[in-house]
Amino acid sequence: MTARRRGRVLVAGSANLDFVVRAPRVPAPGETILGYQCTTFPGGKGANQAVACARAGHVETRMLVALGDDPQAEPIEASLRSAGVQLDIVRTPQVATGAAFVCVGDDGENAITVVSGANAQLREEDLPELHGVDCLLLQLETPLASVEAWARKGHVAGVTVVLNAAPAQQLPESLLAVVDLLVVNEGELATVVSAHGDIAARIGDPHLPSVVVTLGARGCCANVDGRVLLQPGFRVEAVDTTGAGDTFCGTLAACLAAGESMDNALRRASAASALACTRFGAQTSVPSRSEVDAMLASGEDNGVHARDALAAYCGLSLH
Ligand code: RIB
Repeated sequence: MTARRRGRVLVAGSANLDFVVRAPRVPAPGETILGYQCTTFPGGKGANQAVACARAGHVETRMLVALGDDPQAEPIEASLRSAGVQLDIVRTPQVATGAAFVCVGDDGENAITVVSGANAQLREEDLPELHGVDCLLLQLETPLASVEAWARKGHVAGVTVVLNAAPAQQLPESLLAVVDLLVVNEGELATVVSAHGDIAARIGDPHLPSVVVTLGARGCCANVDGRVLLQPGFRVEAVDTTGAGDTFCGTLAACLAAGESMDNALRRASAASALACTRFGAQTSVPSRSEVDAMLASGEDNGVHARDALAAYCGLSLH
């Protein structure tokens, strides 16, 4: 009997060193407030998603990443390697590693400013060979022209192309046409889809591919090949939501590459992202596969009432 080949995910995206200030709350524009702690963590949406994918288990994870030749690159590279991510590094001696300035309030919410640095140097031709890749996972912290070219290559090669459209920006139809699954939060959905209306109306937009909308503690809602799916959130005490969306995307991609159903993938991704909110930092907060298993076994999702509430929030009728 031959062992089934492990699924393979290629993440092409950003890496940043996160300079994180904890404060009672995120300041309003023009306001100065006093914080009480400043720390650095490995971050960047692409690198966070690669770590989440590798920790989700049952897949091989590889990442195309650009890093400067500077000390900021070291903790990022170490974090990716210790999670088991194989790296294709584009080294940029003249350009600094990406940086993010993150303020986290005591309610767990955050505000983030990214300085792209090396991430802006990634080009179409940097994408590694796609042979054997099941899923290509992309975000929008690298140049849009490169993202579109990578998505097109993935599409032509028959790879499942997953795009997390974060940070939010409007997307050309030529990009949406070569994406299999779009993952967005509510604000990103409003940017990508110009039509007004509730979430149910927006995810039914004929210009969109299959789409998952993450809705924070409420859970998520998806339209996958015309089938609408709802996954209520898992109950946790959130201390830092940084990287929760990335944990969701990386876990989702791992599950899909491993051949799991979309329902299971959404459930695992929701549990993993809830757990990520209970710890500080981005990559440091990503749970292991066994922690997600334990969360799922505990049945700590919000049950049938949360499902009804989620449906109502999205403008969907379940009955
Ligand atoms: O999604 C969270 C990430 O956004 C942070 O790690 C930061 O680096 C920015 O890319």
